[in-house]
Amino acid sequence: MKVLITGGAGFVGSNLAAHLLQQQADVTVFDSLARHGASENLAWLRSLGDVPFLHADVRNAADVEQAVRSVAPDVIFHLAGQVAMTTSMQNPRADFEVNVLGSINVLEAVRQHSSATAIVYASSNKVYGNLDHLDLVEQAMRYQPRSLTSGVDESTAIEFHTPYGCSKGAADQYMIDYARGFGLNTVVFRHSTIYGGRQFSTYDQGWVGWFCRQAIETQRDPSRDPFTISGDGKQVRDLLHVSDAVNAYLAAFHNIAQARGQAFNIGGGMSNSMSLLELFALLEARLSVKLSYTQLPWRQSDQKFFVADNTKAERLLHWSPQMPKAKGIEDTVRWESR
Ligand SMILES: NC(=O)c1ccc[n+]([C@@H]2O[C@H](COP(=O)([O-])OP(=O)(O)OC[C@H]3O[C@@H](n4cnc5c(N)ncnc54)[C@H](O)[C@@H]3O)[C@@H](O)[C@H]2O)c1
Repeated sequence: MKVLITGGAGFVGSNLAAHLLQQQADVTVFDSLARHGASENLAWLRSLGDVPFLHADVRNAADVEQAVRSVAPDVIFHLAGQVAMTTSMQNPRADFEVNVLGSINVLEAVRQHSSATAIVYASSNKVYGNLDHLDLVEQAMRYQPRSLTSGVDESTAIEFHTPYGCSKGAADQYMIDYARGFGLNTVVFRHSTIYGGRQFSTYDQGWVGWFCRQAIETQRDPSRDPFTISGDGKQVRDLLHVSDAVNAYLAAFHNIAQARGQAFNIGGGMSNSMSLLELFALLEARLSVKLSYTQLPWRQSDQKFFVADNTKAERLLHWSPQMPKAKGIEDTVRWESR
């Protein structure tokens, strides 16, 4: 199995590459190393085995074409991206170039030079807008839908909010259209929160890791300044551990005939849903700390509730998340204590 991973030195990409190395797959990592921590992830991958590395940029069509022609991969996991909504508000053009132009470059290279290659693309829950139509009850620790029992499914109307939502959503739709119009084997995954080891979390992206780190620092220095949160902390996401994400990517490739041309909501599901306040309570108990934070305004178009309904992925990819949130958070606390 020949695999090309764009963004292969990132959080999800390096976990996927490590798993594939263990399975003796032929993995090539393509990454610009733009993300803080990407060089460390690359060094870690190199400590595990022989990983051909292309220091290259998805915005550059020639870089992508060269990679596709030289590797001739069976599958491309297209994970390279501008990943933060907040950054997209500061520089919409840069966000567009990485996420839309970068994705078109991948699609065009495959269409012209390697049309049997499958592409699995990491899209976002942001393609569903702010989901204002959900009927939510405000509880003490979280927002809870009155009647939605298994989460948000793929029949939900797409509505792109924020430049990041627009760029991820545009690439998401191009992926699906290249299956429809050009017969490519493309699959779209719409994710919200992925967490676990090798994520270099920031305030802008990777909230589970970021708040685990705040709790660890509070344990080390109980008198430190309060940290900040955006909104009231009752917003809910379902937590997808990176090991489950890795299995989902492989499942898409192994079930490409059923999956091609389709989008899947891929998350931890209802049983792994959590609000910020619930995470804080868990961390306070686990680390014997009292967390102190101040509240900033809500982020632009932040969803108060998003949990992926994984039913379609269960049916067509034979995949479901296996990692319970308590165990996954233990793993993340260990990683953030490094
Ligand atoms: N982690 C999550 O919770 C989450 C949620 C929804 C969607 N996603 C999507 O999944 C994908 C992977 O996310 P991640 O958490 O691993 O992010 P990450 O930032 O850790 O990894 C992305 C990688 O892409 C590389 N990159 C950035 N710009 C590039 C460019 N122009 N050319 C080549 N490489 C470039 C970075 O150096 C980095 O190594 C992203 O597309 C992201 O939008 C992630």
